[in-house]
Amino acid sequence: MAVPILQINCITKFFGGLKVLEDVSFDLMPGQRFGLIGPNGAGKTTVFNLLSGVYSVDSGSVILANQDITNLPIRKRIGLGLSRSFQNIRLMPHLSVLENVMMGQHCQANRITEMIKPIGWTKNNRWRQRALETIKDAGLEVDLNSTVSELPYGVRKKIEVVRALMSKPSVLMLDEPAAGLNPQETIELAGFLRGISDSNVTLLLVEHDMNFIHAICEKVVVLNFGLKIFEGTPKEVNRNKAVLEAYLGTSAMESSGVT
Ligand SMILES: Nc1ncnc2c1ncn2[C@@H]1O[C@H](COP(=O)(O)OP(=O)(O)O)[C@@H](O)[C@H]1O
Ligand SMILES: [Mg+2]
Repeated sequence: MAVPILQINCITKFFGGLKVLEDVSFDLMPGQRFGLIGPNGAGKTTVFNLLSGVYSVDSGSVILANQDITNLPIRKRIGLGLSRSFQNIRLMPHLSVLENVMMGQHCQANRITEMIKPIGWTKNNRWRQRALETIKDAGLEVDLNSTVSELPYGVRKKIEVVRALMSKPSVLMLDEPAAGLNPQETIELAGFLRGISDSNVTLLLVEHDMNFIHAICEKVVVLNFGLKIFEGTPKEVNRNKAVLEAYLGTSAMESSGVT
């Protein structure tokens, strides 16, 4: 039987006296496209912050490719193959597409000079080569010299994903990648991410847009008030009573056609 690439075992997190996650467990299989959904405040971003090392767990463990990463710092986790993008775009708006993708190497830089070197003076450095390869492999089609702030939002989202691929992750976590996109851009992003998944990158996506989840995810976990209330396929999720109750009245289920 295949071994999970990422195992989340009973993770619990408190912020002060507030328990925001309680004993949450799920496994990601290699190459899987996995969705993490739930109402606002359910704890989804906190899961990402715990997996990526922004916060530490209060109990539980995180295993990446058989290695316990529960207490490793952020940079080590990235080096071992866990990468993420953030809920709000954090591209450098005045830099070019290529420069922004090159910035994705910063997490691997050992010295401050290595962090800034890619931008500007060295025309053919290895980060530039790596960025060009990563852009090509991901199938990002855009003028690499264009300034990011001048590009449509949907293209910027793709650039953000490509930048996160600079560390050659085995697992890529994306927090609400389709937020703010129009329906056409959303479909395009789903296709783009499927292409990346086909190159054997495991995807863990937090997303509100259920159409997007249906278009891309093979499996979903639903959180509500910090508890896992469901795990199954996107089709099954629409029929699950606990999930329907958790979402009742919210736009996410309405947009999926469940009333
Ligand atoms: N750094 C923090 N300090 C205190 N409370 C936090 C912090 N981050 C998140 N929370 C709380 O944890 C809960 C879950 O938040 P979050 O993980 O952002 O939810 P989601 O991403 O599902 O909308 C919320 O009640 C939120 O207010
Ligand atoms: Mg969130």
